[in-house]
Amino acid sequence: MSAYHIRGGRKLHGEVDVAGSKNAALAIMSAVVLAEGTTILHNVPNVSDTRTKASLLEVFGAKVQWREGSLLIDCSRLHDGEADEEMVRSIRTSFYLLGPLVARIGFVTLPAPGGCKIGARPVDLHVKGLLALGAELELSEGRYTVRAKELRGSEIYLDVPSAGATQHLMATATLAKGITVIQNAAIEPEVTALAEFLNRMGANVEGAGTSTITIQGGAKLEPCGFTIPSDRLQAGTYLLAGAITGGDVTVKGIIPDNQTAVINKLREVGAELIEGPDWLRVKAGTNMKGVRIKTMPYPGFPTDMQQPMSAFLTICEGVSVVEETIYESRIGHVQELNRMGANILQEGRTSIINGVARLRGATVSASDLRAGAALVLAGLAAEGESFVQNIHFIDRGYDDLVGTIRSLGGDITRIQTQEKRGKVGETLH
Ligand code: EPZ
Repeated sequence: MSAYHIRGGRKLHGEVDVAGSKNAALAIMSAVVLAEGTTILHNVPNVSDTRTKASLLEVFGAKVQWREGSLLIDCSRLHDGEADEEMVRSIRTSFYLLGPLVARIGFVTLPAPGGCKIGARPVDLHVKGLLALGAELELSEGRYTVRAKELRGSEIYLDVPSAGATQHLMATATLAKGITVIQNAAIEPEVTALAEFLNRMGANVEGAGTSTITIQGGAKLEPCGFTIPSDRLQAGTYLLAGAITGGDVTVKGIIPDNQTAVINKLREVGAELIEGPDWLRVKAGTNMKGVRIKTMPYPGFPTDMQQPMSAFLTICEGVSVVEETIYESRIGHVQELNRMGANILQEGRTSIINGVARLRGATVSASDLRAGAALVLAGLAAEGESFVQNIHFIDRGYDDLVGTIRSLGGDITRIQTQEKRGKVGETLH
């Protein structure tokens, strides 16, 4: 197993370019199957989730080629396939393939999805929407079988503005004959990015970025070239790395409008945020104070930034109250942060964080992607050495974390841990 060895206490300074959005790329990589021919995606983040998704596409007949950060995906000839259960359960967006594949080839089987252990993560809204579009679904022994002779447009109301369900159904509806209207749709930037991609392929999607999306379906879609927008969650994480270490960090190649909640909360804490047209600079304040955070669907405070933000708040003066309203158990970071000297009381979905003067290095374990990111931030701020284990979770969503943090002056190394001795072995690089 790999781990990060971090020597904390260094202020991070400098500029980083942010990679393409994992969550936008994963949704778009499902939609590429809608068109025959080769789509070229630029600025695809090289993370384990996108690599897994590429392998999954190949199971269904796509030909995938990575070429210097671009992904060429040829979906000329697709067929049903026996996707490996482990692979499918490792990424939740495997599920978003069902609709586009059944719209294209009429029949597909897929194991039920997985994803990070942060909550139940139901797919009832996805299923409800596919049925409304005329697909037949059957779930037996943990595998979905989906059939559709012809998909037809429909009105779909989402009980929860689910990003995934909005993306999945919007893409599928582009091949359904007639008009589909998705009510209470998610307005996350990754939904808007997918709509732009679909329209680039010749679809007719209107209203993305609002809670009502209208899709005029049925046109034949053509493959295209598309550049994945930057990852607002990686950007937010590196801004917090600057803030938690008392440093001065600029993230470039981003869309500041996608970071409103994080910008405002960092300013409320007492950090200085300077905004450019496609960059953001954070300068840590001298006495930063705790705040209240309540995660909400976009444009509210993003649930994916809750754990990294909580790590930062552990060393902000006074009491912070962090309420996670999207997932029922996005709390894998709390116990581990307390091992580093944080003072967090967890009451259900709410963390009550009493700020401490400093964290102390420790050996901690990541339980999911963003909890892992939170532990890295804490290690960078802590006095002494930290070892963050189970970093395969972090590999899901952060490409070149070591290189990025080192470029800001952080001391982090990826190492191999010897399971049996529980000790840390030689340095990998
Ligand atoms: C996407 O997950 C992201 N993943 C998540 O990021 C992110 O946390 C989440 O959106 C919310 O912003 C990807 O884009 C790959 P949801 P998704 O459907 O689409 C409920 C990360 O760290 N719901 O918007 O699966 C669900 O229980 C990952 O990058 C239903 O009730 O999230 C949750 O409470 C973690 N029924 C809420 O909606 C459904 O059918 C939001 O889930 C679907 C969802």
